[in-house]
Amino acid sequence: MIAREPTGVPGLDTLIEGGFLKDSITLVSGSPGTGKSIFSQQFVWHGTTKYNQKVMYITLEQRVQDVWNQALRFGWDFEKLQKRGKAKFVFMDITQRKLPKGVTYVDLIRDEAARFKPDRLVIDSLVPLANFPIPIEELVEYGLIGEFDKLLPQQISEELQTRMQVHKLMTLLRDVECTSVVISEIPRNSEWLSRDTVSEFMADSVILMHYLGIGATSNRSMTIEKMRGTKHTEDVLPLEITSKGVSVHKPEEAYKV
Ligand SMILES: Nc1ncnc2c1ncn2[C@@H]1O[C@H](COP(=O)(O)OP(=O)(O)O)[C@@H](O)[C@H]1O
Ligand SMILES: [Mg+2]
Repeated sequence: MIAREPTGVPGLDTLIEGGFLKDSITLVSGSPGTGKSIFSQQFVWHGTTKYNQKVMYITLEQRVQDVWNQALRFGWDFEKLQKRGKAKFVFMDITQRKLPKGVTYVDLIRDEAARFKPDRLVIDSLVPLANFPIPIEELVEYGLIGEFDKLLPQQISEELQTRMQVHKLMTLLRDVECTSVVISEIPRNSEWLSRDTVSEFMADSVILMHYLGIGATSNRSMTIEKMRGTKHTEDVLPLEITSKGVSVHKPEEAYKV
């Protein structure tokens, strides 16, 4: 029996064999306002309230209090859980850029996760991280480029360096024994599934959230682009955000007249 981590999103788990694979990495991507953060908060809320798990939420965009306030609207009191030691929310202000030499935000994320040992981990989101290039010496250290490439640093574009930052993060997440959700964002009309264009290949699973601003009955939806080791639905799943959070409907239910 393969261990699964139910997401707690009504309607979703039965379509993915019960939940995410334990210790897997899922990329949740989509345009702003599609429900990525709410989905992820629901995932960790479910883990801690239903399975008594420890959960960690690294926010790189919003302050912890703002995330807590948003979650409270859905009845998820993470502040209380943090006081009990079951949750740990951490805000990393990447714009400050005051890290000691040789230390990256990816290192800090790894250290936080290694210390707290969460069962479920969310990173919201990769976007600021992808604006922070990784030093070339580190690329060599992590074996991401060889010594030969180091001699020709001008050939390593800044874009590649930022991608490597995400590469490093995903590699480190592999070593942390927890089920992770990482959030990214897709620019409009992009052919890629994430902004960094790397995470979609490195993640075990990719979920896309969509929002069509047209006057339809249901204009939010979700698609599962891939899910390793899982027979998953290929349907466009109608999605709803209510005061209880995110829920998924069967296509035939949503389009029934
Ligand atoms: N109580 C609510 N009921 C219905 N929809 C809501 C509610 N609260 C927020 N939303 C919707 O959720 C969106 C924000 O979701 P969020 O997860 O923060 O998006 P993302 O992280 O993808 O940018 C808002 O734009 C709004 O449309
Ligand atoms: Mg968000």
